[in-house]
Amino acid sequence: MIIAIDGPAASGKGTLAKRLAAHYGLPHLDTGLLYRAVARVLLDNDTSLADEPAAAEVAATLDLDHLDETRLRGRQMGEAASRISGHPRVRAALLAFQQRFAAQPSGAVLDGRDIGTMVCPGADVKLFVTARPQERARRRHRELLARGEVAEYAAILEDIERRDARDSTRMAAPLRSATDAIILDTTALGPDAAFRAALAHVEAARPA
Ligand code: CDP
Repeated sequence: MIIAIDGPAASGKGTLAKRLAAHYGLPHLDTGLLYRAVARVLLDNDTSLADEPAAAEVAATLDLDHLDETRLRGRQMGEAASRISGHPRVRAALLAFQQRFAAQPSGAVLDGRDIGTMVCPGADVKLFVTARPQERARRRHRELLARGEVAEYAAILEDIERRDARDSTRMAAPLRSATDAIILDTTALGPDAAFRAALAHVEAARPA
């Protein structure tokens, strides 16, 4: 079974993807980390994020063994990832890897922005996870503080709104829900309630 989970910044799709993967014993890929990892290499090499050929080269030769670094989860990397993710050549270079991951015999859970629309249009189950921007900013704020990153709520809300606007209006694979996705608004749902709601949708939609 392939489960595709998309949604805007800090919507809780990662937490949900992890829990669904654990529940069904499926491998999980947080595709945002791929874009964050490309951005990290460019920033470390002082290469402009606007340099599409350089970014595409990094994406094509990305070392996938270092996707667990804490630094990738930081605020600066989220913003930089969003900037390079608009380059069609970067997206093309990362597409094959994501599709290979999804094609494992066991199936898989992938989360991102274009999983249901571009990476796995034939996924068995598609969820589009969203929440009000203020609630998403509150969650991201808590998460960053817990990790020791100094951050102000207002600045995070601004980050999130800017990133959503950029991700939704870009030409290449913009953030949007697939027409056959189930929309899950988690504004009023805690992690357990969101998981239960998602599970009910997956159970209803999963192949027999
Ligand atoms: O965790 P959060 O929702 O803040 O971000 P993320 O999922 O790690 O994604 C970081 C950035 O990568 C997003 O703002 C997108 O611009 C980009 N991205 C994308 O374009 N396509 C994906 N499948 C995943 C992420």
